[in-house]
Amino acid sequence: MTAVDDDSEVSDVFSWFPVELPARQRALGLFVAKWTIGALRPLVQLKVPDLLAAGPRTAAQLAAATGAEVDPLYRVLRCVAAAGILREEADGVFALTAAADGLRSDADGSVRDMFLFACDPMMWRPYEEVLHTVRTGTPAFDHVFGEPFFDFLRGNTGSAELFDRAMTQNHYPGSDRIFDRFDFSRFPRIADVGGGRGQFLAEVLSRHPGCTGAVCDQPQVVAEARAEFERRDVADRASVVETDFFAGVPDGFDAYFIKHTLHNWNDHDAVRILKRVRAAIGADTGARLLIIDMLLAGPGEWDLGKLTDIEMMVALGGRERGLPEWNQVAGAAGFTLANDPVPGDLALLEYRPV
Ligand SMILES: C[S@@+](CC[C@H](N)C(=O)[O-])C[C@H]1O[C@@H](n2cnc3c(N)ncnc32)[C@H](O)[C@@H]1O
Repeated sequence: MTAVDDDSEVSDVFSWFPVELPARQRALGLFVAKWTIGALRPLVQLKVPDLLAAGPRTAAQLAAATGAEVDPLYRVLRCVAAAGILREEADGVFALTAAADGLRSDADGSVRDMFLFACDPMMWRPYEEVLHTVRTGTPAFDHVFGEPFFDFLRGNTGSAELFDRAMTQNHYPGSDRIFDRFDFSRFPRIADVGGGRGQFLAEVLSRHPGCTGAVCDQPQVVAEARAEFERRDVADRASVVETDFFAGVPDGFDAYFIKHTLHNWNDHDAVRILKRVRAAIGADTGARLLIIDMLLAGPGEWDLGKLTDIEMMVALGGRERGLPEWNQVAGAAGFTLANDPVPGDLALLEYRPV
């Protein structure tokens, strides 16, 4: 295997791993992901990428700085370098690459919290029980932890904070295309339902000085949103509304975003949430529901959503959806499609009330 050059682009989940196996053994090549994630997680927990930002270091220097044992630390460093996430130099010195730079805690566009969330026990242990989901149709998360995901977060502050921080790093490649393709300035007053700590709303408001908005999420989540609005310099146009979207959604907005949230829920619950949005819109036929989520491509086509769908099914009992499924849940809540979204990636689906 060769290390990935600092500037190279990785277009495909497993293109890091050119494992040349005969076709019948190819599924075994997937295990390289487990080995690499297992090696990378302790390095990220020990903030090794932060330490390497100052320049290349030996395993012994990194062990001294982190309080780790030299030999096992060397072996996880070597594994992660073989997978192209770090670079091992000829003399056993390890250096940062562009791929590991994003794992620094203070990197611009850091994905450290998203990485730590994705391989945290709360997201890892349900994968021991996927067969349970396949046999019963119920989330493995509930089976493992004894309660649904969002109930678990409400009782586990540390896990909830990791989740909320991870969501602020929830930037799919398709997000930028949405900003290029859609004119958000049509909507002077925007509500972001299930908007987390307000990161997406802040991005919309900073791009569109004529817009105002409110982030509508659970009290413990929106508590952090004001700081995000201050940081993005949009606090004078952004507000916070503590919301349980199963109980009600605030009225008086021209557009209701709901991004990366409906895929957390099964069709029954997705319709319940959308009915709350429909009730908030009332007789204002000019208002719009804007769903931003994966829009599944057709059979046999590559689509990241076909992979993230497993996370939704196993952890949350939710699902990614194709256009017929989106139209069905939105239709059941009183909406009809008003644009022509592109499948196969993150998409914006515009619905008008009927
Ligand atoms: C996967 S996150 C998406 C966050 C954000 N929209 C984004 O794109 O990063 C789902 C959000 O739904 C929120 N949520 C879950 N249950 C909720 C409820 N009953 N009422 C309001 N928000 C809820 C969570 O707090 C979380 O912020």
